[in-house]
Amino acid sequence: MRIDKVVIPVAGMGTRLLPATKSQPKEMLPIARKPVVQYVVEEMVDQGLKNILFITGKDKRSIEDHFDRDPELTQRLSEAQDLEHMEEIDYESEGVRFFYTRQMIASGSRLPSGLGEAIASAEQFVGDEPFVVGLGDTIIQSSNYSGLVRRMIKSHQRYGASATIAVCEVAEDEVQHYGVVKPKGRGKTDFEIDDIVEKPSVDEAPSRLAVAARYVFNPEIFAAIKRTPPGIGGELQLTDAIRNLMKMGHTVRCIRLRRDERRYDIGSPESYFKAFIDFALSDQKYGYLIRQYIEQRLREI
Ligand code: UTP
Repeated sequence: MRIDKVVIPVAGMGTRLLPATKSQPKEMLPIARKPVVQYVVEEMVDQGLKNILFITGKDKRSIEDHFDRDPELTQRLSEAQDLEHMEEIDYESEGVRFFYTRQMIASGSRLPSGLGEAIASAEQFVGDEPFVVGLGDTIIQSSNYSGLVRRMIKSHQRYGASATIAVCEVAEDEVQHYGVVKPKGRGKTDFEIDDIVEKPSVDEAPSRLAVAARYVFNPEIFAAIKRTPPGIGGELQLTDAIRNLMKMGHTVRCIRLRRDERRYDIGSPESYFKAFIDFALSDQKYGYLIRQYIEQRLREI
């Protein structure tokens, strides 16, 4: 079955980036020239995925505005013959369709409580089709366009998995920030897993392969989410639901990021600053000047 639906969760609180995220979504923070979530949308569209559902929440309106048609701006850019910017905001001619739904909030709670809960909100949109999930706060960058999600879809269909997850190797002291997988066998580039653990300690981590913000799921994931109680931080963890999916007898596989692919999760101030610097340095027009500026500043400090 052809996969053309993408779910982009953007309903999180972004508390680690306060006060920048007090009244604006973390996913709208710019990394060099674009908001983070625009990179995610462009990645999906480049891979032929054109039906995009955002799972939104409180204070996330600017995401809807950002991807909405803006005839006035288009007119102004057209008059100024600014084709570059026109192309960048023109999703309509590419046949991209955006949908929005709010994350369901569990009764008795006032706040969004977990990625598993966010994905559960996509059930109606998805129906009985497999779908892709791309976290709205994480950019996958590569030197040449590498087609990570396309590779994931290909493997997902080839092996008949219920879930296929992107993973990348992280330093030992970073495993505690991510979901970490336990490969069956050596875990080279495309492999099945035995287990997955959310934010393990260094001693408990089954490997150094951390989940890298891109997933392909069959609709079975919704049944697994329903069987999953709140986990770490009182949140319904998607990682725990994937674990339940395996317990229900389903196959879960992983695709490892290639050497030329890099994951930028902008969730903490440190990772946000690093992402901004890297993207500014690789800017075609200003990268060289920024490099000179940084070198000069480092000599002065
Ligand atoms: P994070 O795990 O970084 O959580 O979300 P967060 O709530 O945004 O940030 P902190 O921990 O408070 O600083 C990863 C992605 O999943 C979405 C977020 O919007 C982000 O894009 N998410 C997270 C949801 O859509 N709903 C949730 O309940 C949690």
